[in-house]
Amino acid sequence: MANTILVGAQWGDEGKGKIIDVLTEQADVVVRYAGGNNAGHTVMVNGKKSVLHLIPSGILRPHKLCVIGNGVVCDPIGLVSEMDDLRQHGIKVTPKNFVLSETAHVVLPYHRELDGTRELLKGKNKIGTTKRGIGPAYGDKAARVGLRINDLIDSAKLEEKLSDRIKENNVVLKSLGAKPLSFKQVFAEYDQAGRRLKPFVQNTVVLLHEQMRAGADILFEGAQGTFLDLDHGTYPFVTSSNTTAGGACTGSGVPPHRMDRVVGVMKAYTTRVGEGPLPTENQEISNLLHGMGREFGATTGRPRRCGWFDAVATRHASMVNGIDDLAITNLDGLDTVESIKVCVAYRQGKRQYDYVPNDAQVLAACEPMYVEFEGWRCPTVSCRTFKRLPAKAREYVKAISELSNARLFIASVGPGREQTIFV
Ligand code: IMP
Repeated sequence: MANTILVGAQWGDEGKGKIIDVLTEQADVVVRYAGGNNAGHTVMVNGKKSVLHLIPSGILRPHKLCVIGNGVVCDPIGLVSEMDDLRQHGIKVTPKNFVLSETAHVVLPYHRELDGTRELLKGKNKIGTTKRGIGPAYGDKAARVGLRINDLIDSAKLEEKLSDRIKENNVVLKSLGAKPLSFKQVFAEYDQAGRRLKPFVQNTVVLLHEQMRAGADILFEGAQGTFLDLDHGTYPFVTSSNTTAGGACTGSGVPPHRMDRVVGVMKAYTTRVGEGPLPTENQEISNLLHGMGREFGATTGRPRRCGWFDAVATRHASMVNGIDDLAITNLDGLDTVESIKVCVAYRQGKRQYDYVPNDAQVLAACEPMYVEFEGWRCPTVSCRTFKRLPAKAREYVKAISELSNARLFIASVGPGREQTIFV
């Protein structure tokens, strides 16, 4: 398979978990390189649903090495509970199949408190974060006051650094009207989590290079989506990491020239959770998908905002990520739609855009310009080959791949591994 970066080509929740799970079959190593437990990757195996937040989905397959890279911000309490959950489902998690970077940054309770408090204070201008402390944790990393996993697993270092950080953060929390934290309590809890995680901690950069020398194929598991990228997304309505393909290099220590392929995952329509512009948002398709019990967030359970497929956005995503191959998911979500719209350009006043403007306010004011496709209006969930898909569904996925400027690789018609059509 060679080294493959998998990214979301829209606003997150593109169904990456399932595609990663399918592609993992051919990989030796799976690496998470950005984000934290704001992500929620839903994977169905043998009819059983698993939601993973930090551990790469590769953990569900035996004999794969799963790595949390240096670019991730790691909530150790969340991670330990995810490991316990997996074990309860009979999935093995040992230092042989799971490794955590010693330089990943630690998400601490004051990050979560600050995240929640800032959102509250922003009122109607809130970002709609997952309140997992992601922004403040990356903020501390950039400000060079973060704690890393190496600090967490050394009780003496943890005690010293945490005590300083809690002192400072309590001043900030109090000034914002939030409750201060007890050092004693946080230390006890995090020190214990550190002890549990210690056997899994390694220099993952060295490990990944050793793996490459031994001929391993690596899959880089992107979290969130292109338009939630801190630099390339709809700022400020973004997450705080580089979710795009470049993030895989900085977040893992594997250099750009060792990357062979970028796979972009996109839904056959568009969704977004949280605030911020979504040009093709449409109530009718939101009602339809929610009525089918679909499109509720895997991490927070919030209903996702839904809209028609936005080819301006996915074309832009192909450009920023260098997407070679496309995996189109949730095709079956459109099975009952009579006429399907696809946005091919935006208009704002007299100006027409064929790329995504950087200013979130400009994007919010953009009107989508649509072309329409006739729906296939029959179930696709049991199709297993491209030939078996209704002709109109084939036409649709071909058209949206062409409009997105990348090769059609996979069409997915349901959450199961077997509902994956390789084109
Ligand atoms: P944060 O990452 O929790 O700071 O949230 C920032 C924005 O990214 C919010 O709009 C969230 O809803 C969105 N977001 C974060 N993680 C995900 C994800 O895994 N899927 C979809 N949206 C996400």
